[in-house]
Amino acid sequence: MKRIAVLTSGGDAPGMNAAIRAVVRKAISEGMEVYGINRGYAGMVDGDIFPLGSKEVGDKISRGGTFLYSARYPEFAQLEGQLAGIEQLKKHGIEGVVVIGGDGSYHGAMRLTEHGFPAVGIPGTIDNDIAGTDYTIGFDTAVNTAVEAIDKLRDTSSSHGRTFVVEVMGRNAGDIALWAGIASGADQIIVPEEEFDIEKVVSTIKYDFEHKGKNHHIIVLAEGVMSGDAFAQKLKEAGDTSDLRVTNLGHILRGGSPTARDRVIASWMGSHAVELLKAGKGGLAVGIHHEELVESPILGTAEEGALFSLTEEGKIIVNNPHKARLDFASLNRSLSQ
Ligand code: ADP
Ligand code: F6P
Repeated sequence: MKRIAVLTSGGDAPGMNAAIRAVVRKAISEGMEVYGINRGYAGMVDGDIFPLGSKEVGDKISRGGTFLYSARYPEFAQLEGQLAGIEQLKKHGIEGVVVIGGDGSYHGAMRLTEHGFPAVGIPGTIDNDIAGTDYTIGFDTAVNTAVEAIDKLRDTSSSHGRTFVVEVMGRNAGDIALWAGIASGADQIIVPEEEFDIEKVVSTIKYDFEHKGKNHHIIVLAEGVMSGDAFAQKLKEAGDTSDLRVTNLGHILRGGSPTARDRVIASWMGSHAVELLKAGKGGLAVGIHHEELVESPILGTAEEGALFSLTEEGKIIVNNPHKARLDFASLNRSLSQ
């Protein structure tokens, strides 16, 4: 393979720029040419495709967002959109594509591979909700941003003796809530993967203020459960009388300079994606499992609850659907006593 392209798609995540940089520099070091595609699949279809050199990715490793821009482009789920994109890839002499994004973006990569254009996925999303990898690029930064914000909310919560419901992103996954909750010493963590009893949540607030002498109460709520406002409403209906405030951290978690961990993971994965394409392999997604690089079939990776089988090289992981660490929920219960 002589010429490959790279794009970012779906929700942006801190560390995507570090991954693009790694793809470009690794490909160049392997004697390949690299093209950038702006705005994900939308830019592919529009032919917004241009050569990327080593210099163009200089000064990017520390920047949040994605300098290739990202887009949601549902038209790419249709055959017509895919064929229009492929037409552009052919026009630019591109033979393989690295797709940095979430599971929606992986479906697009799968379609390209099926049409004869090997595509490799790199998990770029703050949600950490992709099968086949223990970590996604952007998750660590999002957790750190959430912790910084929750620390601040705790100050004002303590000054006023208030309860705070802090809503964090994560789509249907509770990973951000669990990690940020533990790291910020949250009093309660509510995630979609675990049922909650609203009466119990209310009695815990009351008990903590009245019997444990706590002067703050922080509840970290994953957006996949319900909105912070809806949760606050439920608390009131269930008899909560504490002075309650709701903060939605929202898109703040998507921005900012990536942490060292996200930069390292992005560099590692970006480089491996190029190795796979160089070997003519498509239809795979790069991941990290037990601190080692792995690759998995992108089809399985994009499907919920996917299971994988081992290859002869022993590199494709077995049975690694995404699972939030529910042991962290019970860990937090014992630590917030
Ligand atoms: P993420 O990649 O973060 O999960 P989306 O689900 O929005 O984000 O998907 C990103 C983009 O991937 C979509 O806007 C679309 O261009 C492409 N895509 C999503 N689903 C499919 C599909 N079934 N087939 C082809 N392309 C898809
Ligand atoms: O997938 C990343 C994410 O930020 C989710 O956590 C959130 O549910 C969603 O994207 C928000 O999407 P949008 O940026 O389109 O509002």
